[in-house]
Amino acid sequence: MKNTFGNSFAVTLFGESHGDMIGAVLDGVAPGVPIDHDYIEKQLRLRRPAGTISSARVEPDRYTIVSGVFNGKTTGTPLCILIPNENKRSEDYTTDSFLPRPGHADLTGYNKYHGYEDRRGGGHFSGRLTAPLVAVGAIALTALRQRGITVGTHIKRCAGIPDRDFRNAQEDLALLNNTDFAVLDPDAAIKMKKAIDAAAASGNSVGGVLETCVCGLPGGVGEPWFDSVESVLSHALFSIPAVKGVEFGAGFSICDMQGSQANDAMRWDAGGVRFLSNHNGGILGGISTGNDLIIRIAVKPTPSVFTEQETVDLTKGQNATLRLHGRHDPAIVHRARVVADSVTALALCDLLALRYGTDWLRGAD
Ligand SMILES: Cc1cc2nc3c(=O)[nH]c(=O)nc-3n(C[C@H](O)[C@H](O)[C@H](O)COP(=O)(O)O)c2cc1C
Repeated sequence: MKNTFGNSFAVTLFGESHGDMIGAVLDGVAPGVPIDHDYIEKQLRLRRPAGTISSARVEPDRYTIVSGVFNGKTTGTPLCILIPNENKRSEDYTTDSFLPRPGHADLTGYNKYHGYEDRRGGGHFSGRLTAPLVAVGAIALTALRQRGITVGTHIKRCAGIPDRDFRNAQEDLALLNNTDFAVLDPDAAIKMKKAIDAAAASGNSVGGVLETCVCGLPGGVGEPWFDSVESVLSHALFSIPAVKGVEFGAGFSICDMQGSQANDAMRWDAGGVRFLSNHNGGILGGISTGNDLIIRIAVKPTPSVFTEQETVDLTKGQNATLRLHGRHDPAIVHRARVVADSVTALALCDLLALRYGTDWLRGAD
């Protein structure tokens, strides 16, 4: 399924950056999940550009849910959400020659769709499509919360500037979910914003790492081989535009540890298993351990930069120099943090629906 993710709980994404509307269809959602419009709007606001550290294209995201909701709750039938594109400046993309932007999907989109694609503003590949993903992600996050599962993401690193590590996951997640710029250390937040501003001022961009924590996921979720928690989450997370790496727990650095250090020791505590560390990120054998899930994604610097770049002219078949116009994010990490929460929630809902059945996500009766 080309534009659909998930089996038992599936999301389909459609639209283009400068088309009339973008949207998503959520299928397999449990009946009876409350639709919390304040929460959906809050999540959309967190993704929306704001100030000098983001693109100047600010869309109001006036969404409509056209199916699958009755009396304020999901019905269990396909839920379709539509968001109009209201702030387009398509003239920025009107040109006789086609100069694909290095680092963007202009060239690959052309190779796949043979020039029929609507490439204005990045078309179907645009970060704009993460708006409906966040809207349906808010419904998934609400469903998870009913089952005591919470998700939160911080900017672990931006332009090489590190944030502090998670200390007390529950408290840190509560802090992050009330913070617009998702950084745990306020000093690091100031430095990161300065670095993004500096990149913007020089027409350039910066990247970073997002770290997501999931608390309360029951042990036993996931399949041992092809549908491991790692496989399903990475499949979903790699769909976020600009994500170029995914790691769990200690990630690649686990390779530099000795086995005795990499193993997460266990203690019997209050009738259950408690882990003394979490180098394996809450997953063993593809299955959740009951420990917090720790996931990191690498987000590249925004490809659309305003410095001169070398590319090709596909209409003339020759080399070309590109000087971009238009509105672009000087960094993606701070806006993508809520996209990471949403995509993680959608993927977990699929795994949970597979294990316990669709209705489990309706919450305890
Ligand atoms: C929230 C968000 C906002 C983005 N904003 C921009 C942008 O303003 N300009 C741009 O060139 N790319 C932006 N991107 C990234 C591109 O969509 C992405 O790099 C491109 O589609 C190529 O895909 P790839 O980087 O995954 O290979 C954004 C991505 C996200 C998630």
